[in-house]
Amino acid sequence: MTQPTTMVIVNASPKGEYSLTLQYARYLMMHEQDVVWNVLDIGEMLTDNDYESEWFHASLELIQECDAVLWATPVYTMLVPYQLLRFFQLIQQEGKDSIFSGKYATSIMSCFHYYDHLAQHWLQATCEDLGMWYMEGLSVDDKDLLNRTYRQSMRFFMAEFHRSCKQRLPLPRQSREIVQEHVPFKPQLDGRQVGKREDIRTVLLTDEVGEDGNLSAMIKVFLASYPNKVEVVDIKSFPYEGACQGCLRCELVGECDRKDGFQAFYQNLVNSCDVLVHAMNLEGRYLKPVWKLFLDRTFSNGHRTSMMGKHTCYLVSGPLDQLPYVRQFLEGKDMVGRENSVGVISDDLCHDEELGRLISETALRLDRSARAHFQKGANFLGVGGMKIFRDLIYGMRGVVRDDHRFYKQRKLYDFPQRKMGHQLFNLFMGVAFWFKPVRLQAYQRMKPLYIAKQKQLVDSGKI
Ligand SMILES: Cc1cc2nc3c(=O)[nH]c(=O)nc-3n(C[C@H](O)[C@H](O)[C@H](O)COP(=O)(O)O)c2cc1C
Repeated sequence: MTQPTTMVIVNASPKGEYSLTLQYARYLMMHEQDVVWNVLDIGEMLTDNDYESEWFHASLELIQECDAVLWATPVYTMLVPYQLLRFFQLIQQEGKDSIFSGKYATSIMSCFHYYDHLAQHWLQATCEDLGMWYMEGLSVDDKDLLNRTYRQSMRFFMAEFHRSCKQRLPLPRQSREIVQEHVPFKPQLDGRQVGKREDIRTVLLTDEVGEDGNLSAMIKVFLASYPNKVEVVDIKSFPYEGACQGCLRCELVGECDRKDGFQAFYQNLVNSCDVLVHAMNLEGRYLKPVWKLFLDRTFSNGHRTSMMGKHTCYLVSGPLDQLPYVRQFLEGKDMVGRENSVGVISDDLCHDEELGRLISETALRLDRSARAHFQKGANFLGVGGMKIFRDLIYGMRGVVRDDHRFYKQRKLYDFPQRKMGHQLFNLFMGVAFWFKPVRLQAYQRMKPLYIAKQKQLVDSGKI
């Protein structure tokens, strides 16, 4: 008789046994033959600052001994929860990365499909860095498990994963190892002090300030060139009580369950600033984990895109050119939040003089953009993301009342079926288009008709 396969569910949800994702993971395991499995509630155990060292070491042993890992994780703030980053970080600090090597892995993620692809890519690439064989996982919503046909696909997925693991089948890789090429940035600053204006409140959030690294140097250049007074906030210095617990008290009651003052700190920050500069170090395949801690905690502000109409820019130190998904995260954050970012400046593709000039010019453009109230509009990342939020909030409007009020006041419920003009147009055209001659005529006149109003405006010379 062959030995059963041993698997571990690593549950990254802070909700532990109450995790929705865990129900999917349990279903997958329960319906697969010849598998014995355990659950590690790392999300719950690593939510508070302190954790049990004994539990942590026992968890590492369990992973060391298993054949395969099923990562069960919700999507949090366009990635996985901070707790999972922390888990990997603690393992690395222990020098125990090798426990994953050669094992098979896959994932089950539950979410609202808002930027879940970034979480999927990050997890797969992180596992590949650790020498795991990774099979593309499933991204599910809260209803999929209740659908019988989908459950059939889930069982098939799990059988395929088990087969790959038992027969050690090859699986396609998604990523290459990151090549770390650190070139120190040593800008020449002339030390001149220019008078700073105070009418535009600017805050710079960073994870490194006044140190030897490139990011500190990039900040120095920015501060020297930017014509307004800047308040620099080191996000490491906030006295976090712990990570987001996913309890949704913020959505239901309006207050964060944590009593460390983060919610008030963040709301005050975004409500009162005109310009927000982010200075960020990359680490692994994301930003420094403290950014994840910080960003997950900003969820206490609900789905209210509080940066709307403000102005931002991003200074990033690290191999951003090799991490397109981090770039997409920053762009998505800008686009959905309508932050009007003037750009992501990174030290990986240009150095010293060129980088210095780029930062200085960006600082000046940021000031001009804020003064001109420049609104850049949104691309697919912003429009698509906002439609997911819009539908989500509308569907739960009785429960998430603050979000609902925000969306209503800002006319973010832009459902096409609400527009009377569109309704009448489609009713009329729907009837007329039964007749082929009408369709032919429309086809012949389509080009000039489509641009008629726009052309008229441009031709008129109006401002
Ligand atoms: C802090 C926080 C951030 C979230 N961010 C996202 C997100 O970026 N994208 C998404 O699709 N869902 C997001 N969600 C929704 C969760 O992914 C979803 O509710 C998930 O099913 C929760 O799973 P769990 O019960 O296993 O924790 C977020 C939820 C919380 C509490």
